[in-house]
Amino acid sequence: TSNVTSIKSLAESPALSSVPSAYAFNINPNDEADPNDPEFAIPIVDMSLLISGSPDQRAQIVRDLVKICEEWGFFIAINHGVPESLMKGMIDACHGFFSLPDEEKKEFKSGNDVLEMFKYGTSYNLALDKVLLWRDFFKARTHPEFYSLYKPASFSEVSLEFGKRTREVALEITKAISESLGLEPNYIYETMNMDRGLQLLAGNYYPPCPQPEHAIGIPHHTDHGLVTLLIQNEMNGLQVEHNGKWLTVNGPSNGFFVNLADQMQILTNGKYKSVMHRATVNNTATRISIAIPHGPSIDTIIAPAPELCEREGQAPKYLAMNYKEYIQLQQSGKNYMKSTFDHIR
Ligand code: SIN
Ligand code: FE2
Repeated sequence: TSNVTSIKSLAESPALSSVPSAYAFNINPNDEADPNDPEFAIPIVDMSLLISGSPDQRAQIVRDLVKICEEWGFFIAINHGVPESLMKGMIDACHGFFSLPDEEKKEFKSGNDVLEMFKYGTSYNLALDKVLLWRDFFKARTHPEFYSLYKPASFSEVSLEFGKRTREVALEITKAISESLGLEPNYIYETMNMDRGLQLLAGNYYPPCPQPEHAIGIPHHTDHGLVTLLIQNEMNGLQVEHNGKWLTVNGPSNGFFVNLADQMQILTNGKYKSVMHRATVNNTATRISIAIPHGPSIDTIIAPAPELCEREGQAPKYLAMNYKEYIQLQQSGKNYMKSTFDHIR
């Protein structure tokens, strides 16, 4: 299957009027949430109040975060200080990359090691995918080592700055989350060795699909790190699971969509939630999303925080595990597209 063509090329073929059977995946519209129901109002976090608010304002956001992280594991971060022009520039640079002829993109193709500095491909993992995904992607490591594409020309400069600024936002969030747990503000940063923390830049390209209810961009999964930030072009498609329904995330284009990930759930002994999410496709315009996962350093051993377990009188619910092995397990055939903590519990 390694010679499967890019979804971009497939979607551009003029004769395509239905989803080829290799891509068939049924979405059940009855599982979708009503976005107008107040129960599904997505939490918004005003980052300016964390960064430069009064002590009272900061304390209020930290208190709000407890509920948000327990009940949603997802929020939209606004007023975060990353310039809108930089976010837009990053989307444009990704668009530029995906628009290169397939032959040129293949120059960047690499092996299947989860910690490859760079990967480009289609679907998820062609060696394991039972259904092909309506998606092309690349993944670049941006911290602690920085890898950049050299095409298009703007990519390197934009991704260096974007990665740096986005990481600052992620670290601000982990600080507030540490406090929300009643721990020192730098607790997560220190125990997760975030000075060497893994940061990835993961671009996704979802072209229009003739039958969007019969294909999927990325099926349900949770992320492996601590916290993932995400931006997109003007098209929606991200859905998060909330109260048993799939909710399409619709928010200000200059905000970051923020989801908590598996290591956060493990570290908090299940108090905070690694939210299940997926990407749907549409039949009107190409969607581009960029996910920026932030995790511990890859050699960190993650286990439920002893301080929290003691305070709550709880036994640890998850086994300790090295982050690199965790990623390998999550992306192995054994635990394909699943929350890996369900496996190691
Ligand atoms: C992801 O979960 O990695 C991407 C989801 C999206 O495209 O919105
Ligand atoms: Fe994800």
